[in-house]
Amino acid sequence: MYNVEDNIEIESLIKDIPKAELHLHIEGTLEPELLFKIANRNKIKLKHNSIEDLKNAYDFHNLQSFLDIYYEGADVLIHEEDFYDITWAYLKKCKEENVLHTEIFFDPQTHIERNISFSTIVNGIYQALKDGKKQLNISSYLIMCFLRHLSAESAMDILEQSLPFKDKIIAVGLDSSEVGNPPSKFKEVFKKAISYDYLAVAHAGEEGPPEYIWEALDVLKVLRIDHGIRCLEDKLLVQELVKRQIPLTVCPLSNIKLKVFNEFKEHNLKQLLNAGLIATVNSDDPAYFGGYINENFIQAQKALNLTTENIYTLAKNSFNASFLSKEEKEFFIEKLKAKIAMKSL
Ligand code: ADE
Ligand code: ZN
Repeated sequence: MYNVEDNIEIESLIKDIPKAELHLHIEGTLEPELLFKIANRNKIKLKHNSIEDLKNAYDFHNLQSFLDIYYEGADVLIHEEDFYDITWAYLKKCKEENVLHTEIFFDPQTHIERNISFSTIVNGIYQALKDGKKQLNISSYLIMCFLRHLSAESAMDILEQSLPFKDKIIAVGLDSSEVGNPPSKFKEVFKKAISYDYLAVAHAGEEGPPEYIWEALDVLKVLRIDHGIRCLEDKLLVQELVKRQIPLTVCPLSNIKLKVFNEFKEHNLKQLLNAGLIATVNSDDPAYFGGYINENFIQAQKALNLTTENIYTLAKNSFNASFLSKEEKEFFIEKLKAKIAMKSL
């Protein structure tokens, strides 16, 4: 009989079950080794002299201290091949970790500001996604994020530039420095994006207050909230998220590394589940935060005493909260149920 108390068993369950990842920045998967390799081939001199030196700089005290290093790392990406290589490296991780479906963010403005063309970025990422489907059987969607520290005009310009690539991008998102850049700043951009038939998501309530989550829902009309952990500060908001069935893409390791919670034991993932919210587990920027999706599940399970039931719910939520069709969701959830049943024998 499967023993819930047994950490080794629950770890192997976490690793073996099918999962979807819904909150992953492709620029945040750039591991130091690959970062140096790409920098060398592009003849870019880095501030940090060695991989060790760079890793030592990954000591963050809030979101902004991370973003400063993250944007610096992304500067090594120049050619289509670079975007292909980081995406392919991430998809191989997905294969190892039983991620069967992934919805990937990319930040076009970070690259276009450096005179990299939209086609270089999207074609590199998309070719890897196509190969990932063919060679690894991983399904995927691409979500274009606007950088909220830049102007609404800049976001609108990127939205227009994206139109020739619309068949490759399912949704728009909103990321970067949250506090001081409320969702309402991008009201017109999201309205236009939705009129172009893009779906919409937004980071809200990571460091920002519950009001930002309300704005993401009511002003931007998003279908999912990225992070959203601060919703528990507002009872009415929780009720509304439950009523409207709006999923939260929670990123436990990210929240710990960026000091949203002082320690893992204080993370509110279990409370989110207990409140009836559709919470999911994701890795955000795994190269910077110390782990991919399984590590997020494993560390959360240990610190919060998550039960097998919780793990199952989180994995099921990951498919239900995705942009897959009803039939595709059912297909993956059947696979999940079969795996759980097998492990429970
Ligand atoms: N860009 C990459 N990771 C992010 C995060 N956790 N919050 C906001 N913007 C981001
Ligand atoms: Zn994020």
